[in-house]
Amino acid sequence: MAGMNPSHSKPVALPEAMLQSLWAAARAAQARAYAPYSNYAVGAAIVDEHGAIHVGCNVENAAYPQGWCAEATALGALVMSGARKARGLLVLGSGGAWITPCGGCRQKLREFGEGQMPIVSANLQALGPIYSLEQLLPHSFGPAHLQQPLQQP
Ligand code: THU
Repeated sequence: MAGMNPSHSKPVALPEAMLQSLWAAARAAQARAYAPYSNYAVGAAIVDEHGAIHVGCNVENAAYPQGWCAEATALGALVMSGARKARGLLVLGSGGAWITPCGGCRQKLREFGEGQMPIVSANLQALGPIYSLEQLLPHSFGPAHLQQPLQQP
């Protein structure tokens, strides 16, 4: 069944105007990054189910593992606005290689996004590859797993 195969889970297309809005929002968010240890500034922008955009930057910490990613900041802003769905994410990094969300953030996004949610990689110069959440996190664990009781034989 095609729908069950992650390789067939292409990202939903975002309108060009939304891509541009997400890119601008992520650039502004990246300018706020607190990344004195890695010097790798990240901005993220998420569009919700109402079409509103929520942004975040990475927030590092002198106790290194306590820092968190730009995607986590943006997801917190989305939830605090009252929204409950992530329809698309653009993440913008400062390195030469195209950024993609870390494993932990893929799982965080999984809570609020469908498998075909587009995840756009970008830098300050250009937009890069676009993946679906399911392409980045196949065979994932999600809310539905907690809603299906074990069948007794
Ligand atoms: N980082 C993000 O904010 N998002 C990503 O998708 C990848 C990594 C941050 C975490 C840390 O502050 C810095 O980038 C270097 O890993």
